[in-house]
Amino acid sequence: MIILGIETSCDETGAAVVEGEPNGKTVTLISNILASSQTIHAKTGGIIPEIAARQQVKYIIPAIEQALKEGGREIDAIAVTVGPGLIGSLLVGVETARTLAYVWNKPIVPVNHLIGHIYANFVRKGEELDAIEFPAIALVVSGGHTDLVLIRNHGKIRWLGGTRDDAAGETLDKIGRVLGLPYPGGPAIEMAAKNGNPKAFIFPRPMLDSHDFDFSFSGLKTAVLREVRTIKRFNPLRSEASNETIVNISASVQQAVIDVLVSKTIRAAQRFNVRSILLSGGVAANQKLREQFELGIRNQELGIELFAPPKSLCTDNAVMIASAAFFNYAPIPWQKISANPELYFDTIVVM
Ligand code: KG4
Ligand code: ZN
Repeated sequence: MIILGIETSCDETGAAVVEGEPNGKTVTLISNILASSQTIHAKTGGIIPEIAARQQVKYIIPAIEQALKEGGREIDAIAVTVGPGLIGSLLVGVETARTLAYVWNKPIVPVNHLIGHIYANFVRKGEELDAIEFPAIALVVSGGHTDLVLIRNHGKIRWLGGTRDDAAGETLDKIGRVLGLPYPGGPAIEMAAKNGNPKAFIFPRPMLDSHDFDFSFSGLKTAVLREVRTIKRFNPLRSEASNETIVNISASVQQAVIDVLVSKTIRAAQRFNVRSILLSGGVAANQKLREQFELGIRNQELGIELFAPPKSLCTDNAVMIASAAFFNYAPIPWQKISANPELYFDTIVVM
């Protein structure tokens, strides 16, 4: 089965074609087109939803056209992100997908963006992939979300916990901004952290020892912002923090976030006796995070296999949306599809 995926939940316009075999354990990436309005948002230091939506309108048709051209084959179905995300951006993808489903007379499959992120782990780009064994724990860690879910099988997902305030990526983005780093903050902090000392500042690890699978990052954000303000106050001649301070704060913040994510995910994996851990979402592109997950699993001798998508498929893309639709194939009439910015794990998944 060949599926066209469409992703427009935020500031990336994605169109992609994937192919899956009946009972296959992975799907094959055939084409992957991504247009981004991130450089525009970099100028304002954050996303202005109205501008993101206008850029989606501009890119969507060329992106789909290119994905189909590179795909080179007729598609069997259309998959589209219906939420969560920015309403204006989501509508562009949903209305385009609906129109194409009607005109081409193809089935249309609504996809939850968060579940889409997890399914980036099931995409083969030419190389062979180890089959993912269930049950699995998935950590979805992006700019908008930090969630832990238990996956017993395709379509059998149980939400275990999530952030009570800011998402991990959002925290990095906000801290990046006060440090004067380019937007988005996550990759910029990773770069800066390479030259910094992760023990230079002791920042809080919120909810590290709580007996649930929830997260909280706003306390960490506040602690860092306070530290930066103090440093600036005692250096009145300098309006910006020094380079040494920036790299040390970056390394220390990154370490605090990683400690919490690794520790709570591994605890969930032990509690539910799973065979695999699946990392996903933009923050999963972080190399240090991946290394420390590997280390944590090895140290605990859990016999669990760690999976993480290629970095290019961690951040938003349409390949993961088509992949999720293949493994959870549930088309609905084109009249019924609608964007839902508030969609979450518990609203469409039952177990
Ligand atoms: O999944 P994504 O592209 O969009 C959402 O659905 O939110 O995630 C974007 C988030 C941003 O907060 C960005 O700073 C973060 O992922 N991110 C990273 C890295 N690359 C992207 N965070 C840490 N290290 C990275 N290398
Ligand atoms: Zn995302």
